[in-house]
Amino acid sequence: MDETDREMDETGGGMDETDRELVAAARDAMANAYAPYSDYPVGAAVLTASGAVYTGCNVENANYSNSLHAEEVALAGAAREGDYAIERVAVTNADRDALTPCGMCRQTLAEFGGDDLRVVCDDGADGAATYTLGELLPDAITRERLE
Ligand code: THU
Ligand code: ZN
Repeated sequence: MDETDREMDETGGGMDETDRELVAAARDAMANAYAPYSDYPVGAAVLTASGAVYTGCNVENANYSNSLHAEEVALAGAAREGDYAIERVAVTNADRDALTPCGMCRQTLAEFGGDDLRVVCDDGADGAATYTLGELLPDAITRERLE
């Protein structure tokens, strides 16, 4: 990515049709969020190299730390199908204020997507804030590092 692309991404100009479809899928998934404790529904959608889209919402628990994040649920759907090569992810929340995946989810995404994984954060307009995972989580812990 050159500097011009990066500027477009950070100012939200760079959403393509695939991004829009993923954001729409994430918004749909958010409708099923189970978030009675935080009252903070989140939706996520991942696109894999096979072209499939898997969605997820947050699923909270009375034991707060058991709660599942929307990105984790979406990734679990992909894993259930053995479809692990993640190419893009979109995330949305009720405010559509360009929520980015939390630190834990960034690391989970890094297991299945590389530094160039495209992360699309819904800002409610026709131009989401987009990042690469490498921007959001530089120098992630990887399997290679453990070898
Ligand atoms: N949440 C997600 O689902 N994904 C994130 O990456 C950020 C946080 C959820 C967890 C919890 O149910 C609620 O948002 C408030 O933190
Ligand atoms: Zn998270």
